[in-house]
Amino acid sequence: MNGWCDMDLLEAARQRHSVRDYKDIPLGDSVVAELNAYIEELNAQSGLKMQLAVNEPKAFGSVKAHIMPHYGRFRNAVNYVALIGEKNDAVVEKCGYYGEHIVLRAQQMGLNTCWIGGSYKKVPSEFSLGKNDRIIAVILIGYGATPGRAHRSKSVADVLRASCEVTEWVMRGAECALLAPTAINQQRFIIEYDGENVAIRARRGLFSTLDLGIVKYHFEIGSGRKL
Ligand SMILES: Cc1cc2nc3c(=O)[nH]c(=O)nc-3n(C[C@H](O)[C@H](O)[C@H](O)COP(=O)(O)O)c2cc1C
Repeated sequence: MNGWCDMDLLEAARQRHSVRDYKDIPLGDSVVAELNAYIEELNAQSGLKMQLAVNEPKAFGSVKAHIMPHYGRFRNAVNYVALIGEKNDAVVEKCGYYGEHIVLRAQQMGLNTCWIGGSYKKVPSEFSLGKNDRIIAVILIGYGATPGRAHRSKSVADVLRASCEVTEWVMRGAECALLAPTAINQQRFIIEYDGENVAIRARRGLFSTLDLGIVKYHFEIGSGRKL
């Protein structure tokens, strides 16, 4: 049995925290193969061109810490998935949705991750990019020096707008959505429930369309329903 099979996605969502400080140990061939197989499967489903870079030190070699003062403190950050596609809102949201699949799978495999939208250097020569393709964001992956820690969070009442009584599955979805990573922990999303359907939308904010895709996947995991 693979190591990740015994942790379900909800448990992985609970245990996941951003990690920027990694141990100086390689991912290993079988882990790389497993990640690549999963990435390929997701690319086939989504039309994205996500690609894993292994032992690539340039992206996090000289981060401009002055742009985001509390960001940019990375150690042994050399493995990452580049989320690649044409840059428009639909594709960016998809990067969030499918990228978070990789994040939670990595957590199940005993790895740690960190979404990175800004504090890295793009190294396009590492990847195969079509004419209109862009690196939209990256996800750092490795063996964390620590497991990270839970972020400060808004409450369900802060993010849920319901025109009627809230059912159990909506509540569970919203709780899992609040566990999702969001850029600068902004949690700028609104979950709307009309008694039948749920719609989630992004409020204006830095990377909030990427966040939206991530949050939608978390809602699906918590609620057990596809949006
Ligand atoms: C779309 C997105 C972009 C992010 N960009 C960065 C970044 O450029 N640098 C960084 O250090 N962390 C970045 N983060 C990580 C967030 O700061 C982190 O997810 C948030 O503070 C919540 O903490 P948690 O992931 O531990 O739950 C990003 C997260 C997301 C979802």
